[in-house]
Amino acid sequence: MNRVLTKNLNGLVGEKVTVFGWVNSKRNHGKITFLDIRDRYGIVQVVILPGNNDYEKAEKVSIESVVSVTGEVVKRPENLVNKNIISGDVEIQSEKLEVISPCDKLPFELDDTSGVLEETRLKYRYLDLRTKRMKQNLINRHKSNQFIRNYLSKKGYLEIETPLLTKSTPEGARDFLVPSRNQAGMFYALPQSPQQYKQLLQIAGIEKYFQIVRNFRDEDQRGDRQPEFTQVDIEASFVDEKNIIKLTENLVLELIKTIYPEKYLTLTPIPRLTHKEAMEKYQTDRPDLRKNKNDKNELAICWVVDFPMFEKKEDGSFGPSHHPFTAIKKEFVEDFEKQDPEKVIAQQYDLVINGNEVAGGSIRTHDVAVLKRVFEFLDHSQADIEEKFGHLLKAFKFGVPPHGGIAIGYDRLLMVLNNENNIREVIPFPKTGDGRDPLMDSPCRVDKKQLDELHITTQDRKRKK
Ligand code: AMO
Repeated sequence: MNRVLTKNLNGLVGEKVTVFGWVNSKRNHGKITFLDIRDRYGIVQVVILPGNNDYEKAEKVSIESVVSVTGEVVKRPENLVNKNIISGDVEIQSEKLEVISPCDKLPFELDDTSGVLEETRLKYRYLDLRTKRMKQNLINRHKSNQFIRNYLSKKGYLEIETPLLTKSTPEGARDFLVPSRNQAGMFYALPQSPQQYKQLLQIAGIEKYFQIVRNFRDEDQRGDRQPEFTQVDIEASFVDEKNIIKLTENLVLELIKTIYPEKYLTLTPIPRLTHKEAMEKYQTDRPDLRKNKNDKNELAICWVVDFPMFEKKEDGSFGPSHHPFTAIKKEFVEDFEKQDPEKVIAQQYDLVINGNEVAGGSIRTHDVAVLKRVFEFLDHSQADIEEKFGHLLKAFKFGVPPHGGIAIGYDRLLMVLNNENNIREVIPFPKTGDGRDPLMDSPCRVDKKQLDELHITTQDRKRKK
């Protein structure tokens, strides 16, 4: 297959080429048929004159069919040059048009999907992703992935994969469980984050870890939450809060400068507000500090630091405001149990962009006695501590470096940088608000045989529509 891409056509005037792609649009002007053919890189105009063998084929071909066109690349007259398309200086005089795969009636127009129901867009996501906006979001995501990998790797961070079939780790949501076939009645949990593994990697002497990693949390959905989402997860040894804050800040700023150069920052240097200041001044721990919320290129970035270690739950008891592994500030450690829990400050920090909590992290407790006291304070029984965290407490007895880290909510970061209001727009195949994938039709029922193998019986309920 000798394929020429639309992006290379401008330099090929006079040559005979074959382009492959989708029919983006079709027009007829005074008996001449024009087809705009689109490939991943752009569009080229194809001219089919009356008398051409394929003239009727061109008139009939449906929009979004896959075709190939062979013909000569000719220069367009000066007044017909189209600066809006990649091959705008030229067009192709078709000699042969082949319809490789016709397209059915489309469920929605691809030029503007703003009025299309999201359910329909997700059901036909492969069509939705053909649109310029969605494709650009995927391209930017790819470029950002590459940038982050290079950046952290140059700074000595090792990309290490951690298991997806694992055990519950507390991040404040419900777990997704996976039944074990070999161990009847036992379940793996999908990770809410790689938190414990990345800490264990510090005990393993890795010192600098990162991973662009999928996490799973069964919680109520919102525009900035998905049950399955991605974090840029980072952990390092022998660091303090300032080191992690600086590393994350530089990474995010360099990423913006390189991949989103049209963006500008309202606040430099990036301010650091204490949690108390943020709450008093803005009544929120993720303030939106933009000057003009209608300017899509404005970014107001700030850190919120010094979070309380504990927060009151709905039932009146206290839970960790981040997670129990977070270190309490030195001046509060000695007798934190005796103090007002909401006044005990942790070495915890969040990165906020335009009112979105884009990253969160902390320095961790590496003193096993303090970690036990935190679990006890959180009302875990000794048996519970042993069952849930025994492995970690044991590991902490084999030489644990002081360590800390952060996780960037990658979909949220990309949502903000791509000017989207919903993280679903930057995720190729996201779930609906109620956790379904309308394209694959998941979750779905499974055969009784499969359930039997997994030692599972279900209450038969009618499918929720
Ligand atoms: P945390 O739970 O704060 O910390 O998560 C870090 C960041 O991940 C993003 N995030 C989500 N994004 C989309 N959908 C979700 N359901 C979702 N939940 C969280 C947010 C958040 O700021 N292990 C710790 C990090 C650490 O301490 O190093 C953790 O996961 O942008």
